[in-house]
Amino acid sequence: MKRLDRFEGGRAQLVLKSGSSSQTEHMGRVVGECIPAGTVLALTGGLGAGKTVFVKGLCKGLGVRDRVLSPTFILLEEYRGVLPVYHFDLYRLKGTDEVEEIGVLDAIDGTNVVVVEWADRLPPGWLGEDIVVNLEVVGENERRLALEAPIDLIELLKREKLS
Ligand SMILES: Nc1ncnc2c1ncn2[C@@H]1O[C@H](COP(=O)(O)OP(=O)(O)O)[C@@H](O)[C@H]1O
Ligand SMILES: [Mg+2]
Repeated sequence: MKRLDRFEGGRAQLVLKSGSSSQTEHMGRVVGECIPAGTVLALTGGLGAGKTVFVKGLCKGLGVRDRVLSPTFILLEEYRGVLPVYHFDLYRLKGTDEVEEIGVLDAIDGTNVVVVEWADRLPPGWLGEDIVVNLEVVGENERRLALEAPIDLIELLKREKLS
């Protein structure tokens, strides 16, 4: 019911504090429940910041039943939920030639959801993402999630009382 048909209007930011991996997963799940087909998400933050945990939740929110793994060694995992999900991990990316080979831009076709870990390995603007999620470690189990996204999504997330 709450899934947006499309993004319209301006952009906004939302900073969330997570106190556990299940809380981060829940945040991902709510985002997954709200985003329209064609959404591109750029995830940034160091190793162990919680990017893959967030993607696990995102996939649940998109109705994916497969187990979500970190595609660190293989660069791409594909899942099928209510929408196809393409999960990239650019940690081992060697250059933009390689990113063309693994098909990041091909996956962005307006119907799939594309989520990219280590998106900051790409030149700024290259991905044309709708949503940026930056995760930061602030304690053993504490994370700060800074979302930069279309305002209608941010409003929806605020109503879900994620913080
Ligand atoms: N609040 C939290 N949010 C997300 N992960 C957390 C949190 N607290 C502890 N963790 C742990 O941090 C690790 C995050 O791993 P992962 O999601 O694979 O990171 P990344 O994909 O950013 O390298 C997991 O072991 C997870 O259990
Ligand atoms: Mg990861």
